[in-house]
Amino acid sequence: MSAGTSDQFNEISLTSPLSSADVVKMTVRPSWSTWSMLLLLSPVLPLWATEISCRNEDGKPVDWYIIYKLPKYMRDEAAGTGLEYMFMDSLTQAWKLSKYLINLTESALGQTLQQVYQVYESKKNSTAYVIYNDAPPGKMNYSWKHGHTKGFLLLDKSQGFWVIHSIPEFPPFPQKGYQYPHTGQKNGQTAICLTFRYDQFAKIDKQLLCYNPNIYNCSVPKIFCPELLNLQMLCAGSKLPPIPQKQCLTKLQSAQGESLLNFAKTHSYNEDIYLTWMAPELKTDLLVESWQRKGREFFSNCSLPYHVYNTNLIQTPWNSSFSSYYDHSKWCVSKRYEDQWTCIGDLNYAPQQAKRSGGFICTQNQYIYKAFRQLVYHYYGCRVS
Ligand SMILES: *[C@@H]1O[C@H](CO)[C@@H](O)[C@H](O)[C@H]1NC(C)=O
Ligand SMILES: *[C@@H]1O[C@H](CO)[C@@H](O)[C@H](O)[C@H]1NC(C)=O
Ligand SMILES: *[C@@H]1O[C@H](CO)[C@@H](O)[C@H](O)[C@H]1NC(C)=O
Ligand SMILES: *[C@@H]1O[C@H](CO)[C@@H](O)[C@H](O)[C@H]1NC(C)=O
Ligand SMILES: *[C@@H]1O[C@H](CO)[C@@H](O)[C@H](O)[C@H]1NC(C)=O
Ligand SMILES: *[C@@H]1O[C@H](CO)[C@@H](O)[C@H](O)[C@H]1NC(C)=O
Repeated sequence: MSAGTSDQFNEISLTSPLSSADVVKMTVRPSWSTWSMLLLLSPVLPLWATEISCRNEDGKPVDWYIIYKLPKYMRDEAAGTGLEYMFMDSLTQAWKLSKYLINLTESALGQTLQQVYQVYESKKNSTAYVIYNDAPPGKMNYSWKHGHTKGFLLLDKSQGFWVIHSIPEFPPFPQKGYQYPHTGQKNGQTAICLTFRYDQFAKIDKQLLCYNPNIYNCSVPKIFCPELLNLQMLCAGSKLPPIPQKQCLTKLQSAQGESLLNFAKTHSYNEDIYLTWMAPELKTDLLVESWQRKGREFFSNCSLPYHVYNTNLIQTPWNSSFSSYYDHSKWCVSKRYEDQWTCIGDLNYAPQQAKRSGGFICTQNQYIYKAFRQLVYHYYGCRVS
């Protein structure tokens, strides 16, 4: 902790001229050494309301949040609206049922996207945003050339967020404002929002080259060069440089110090990402939850040292359950509780997805692990051959 923090502190105190009122306040403030002590003792800096960040349903800035939108059809229950969701964030740390339906601007996605709309309207050149989806809104064609990946990011030179989700035709073009698509209603969907300091976006920029996202609206002003060079080229639709590797792996750290691992595979890595890359890299057996189509299920696979098991039934903390046939989300957890891995991302556990680019964000956050591991109600065992 340290270099970054003290630089920032110096910058604030050196660049802002002190008024006499400030000087008076300064004298009652802790001395510099006390500050360093405090910073050492509490490594987590607060998130400021004025900075770009993930926002929860109260509009509060949070380090991260996760949304699990419930399917319309739950077992043994009358159909819901398909707009309710389970929610957890860096402040609550366990699933809660959302206060608002996902189609409302008060929902966490609505609150977070509001920041994109403000930037879009003000045409600020100090802010960058990128919105991508292989299934863009408005009955446009699915993009097979690009990655099977959906998300959006917004940042300035201080801080920003990255949302990774599974919702088709979402979000709408910025001039339309917040809406939730009908095509995302019937099935379960996941979304994860992460707040990052600016330095992390140079790494995300390199990862997104491997993702090869289908960007349908964006603005990456010149001031973000060279850090966001790839995003700028992707946004402009320029010819991309050759990607040196087929698999891109990087460590990221959220604004408040959450350690994350980001896997991104290119389309030339023609293998199942769970079985041949994530499980061996994380050194753990995985329970995978992703969209299943009736009669086209993929079997659990125990042929390699680390096994992948296909989950087919999810149970919420409120004891309602749903089948993976109605779940469009894509995530996995380590089977062993000790390993504590949770990954949320883009690709289904399905043979056709080997050809697509896309990725996952993984964390060993104990609360996130507990929340997801407890959802696994039933998974298929391996076939004995
Ligand atoms: C959100 O969905 C509910 C339930 O279908 C509906 O009554 C409401 O009008 C919708 N609101 C918006 C803003 O779309
Ligand atoms: C950015 O916007 C400001 C204010 O609108 C303008 O003065 C400035 O020239 C712009 N900078 C660039 C690089 O376009
Ligand atoms: C979708 O693709 C078809 C065939 O390539 C093309 O004729 C059509 O114009 C496309 N539609 C849109 C909305 O781009
Ligand atoms: C983003 O959308 C706005 C409004 O539709 C449009 O004016 C702009 O050209 C779009 N930008 C890109 C890069 O597609
Ligand atoms: C398990 O994975 C291996 C390695 O990718 C593959 O060769 C094999 O066919 C898979 N088995 C099943 C039952 O899917
Ligand atoms: C869910 O089921 C378990 C086991 O039957 C029970 O202990 C628990 O109280 C139930 N929870 C709710 C919220 O109904």
